[in-house]
Amino acid sequence: MEEIINERVPEQSRPIIEFRGVSKTYPTGTHALEDVNIRINNGEFVFVVGSSGAGKSIFMKLIMREEKANTGIITVNGFNLTSMKRKQIPLLRRTMGIVFQDFRLIPTMNVFQNVAFAMHVVGASDRNVRKEVSKALSKVGLGNKARSMPAQLSGGEQQRVGLARALVNSPDLIIADEPTGNVDPNMSYEIVSLLTEINKRGTTVLMVTHDHNLVRDFQHRVIMLDRGKIVADNAGGSF
Ligand SMILES: Nc1ncnc2c1ncn2[C@@H]1O[C@H](COP(=O)(O)OP(=O)(O)O)[C@@H](O)[C@H]1O
Ligand SMILES: [Mg+2]
Repeated sequence: MEEIINERVPEQSRPIIEFRGVSKTYPTGTHALEDVNIRINNGEFVFVVGSSGAGKSIFMKLIMREEKANTGIITVNGFNLTSMKRKQIPLLRRTMGIVFQDFRLIPTMNVFQNVAFAMHVVGASDRNVRKEVSKALSKVGLGNKARSMPAQLSGGEQQRVGLARALVNSPDLIIADEPTGNVDPNMSYEIVSLLTEINKRGTTVLMVTHDHNLVRDFQHRVIMLDRGKIVADNAGGSF
């Protein structure tokens, strides 16, 4: 087992996520994860794959501290998730942008307001909100849709709003559990291209997908889960 890396290690090889001997068992007896050991460095793009029920969503939920492990140690962005207090969870979440499969936009708010909301909740000033929301919307190619309502947008456009909302607070880490599960194939490529660009500027990206074509065409690291265990970890985009 490797030691936790200290600050002198170059930025790119500093672990941002580390699991050591992590298991998650539900009272129903389901072993959702079993003895998972993994390290993801700052700046990586990682696809998480595996069949339904393999433990992919649980893996992501543990990283967001939406669920707690039964055993093992999880470190995310300098936070020890095992020992952290409940009131520290918002501090952890502020370092991550979360993209949902079902978009989770607020239907009564327009595109601008949906993205701005994510900044208001962390106490940003109105001026900063206007500036950063515009930047985030242009990044995802929706600069001209700021006044549209979610229902007026296609699935792919709605997910790009979701992406802008995840980006707007400049997170260190983006967590996306099947973000392309509800969009058509062309738009899936566009969303992963956007995530890849964001990653090239330094943000770590962790994305669950079922889409073999995406995994093949975007050559990123691939972690494969099967029945709660990591069964493959390839740097070259194959599985
Ligand atoms: N709250 C829960 N209570 C009991 N079992 C659960 C719960 N959440 C998930 N599981 C089980 O844990 C396993 C992994 O689930 P999940 O991580 O959601 O799989 P997937 O790889 O499809 O995302 C599955 O067998 C699932 O039924
Ligand atoms: Mg899942």
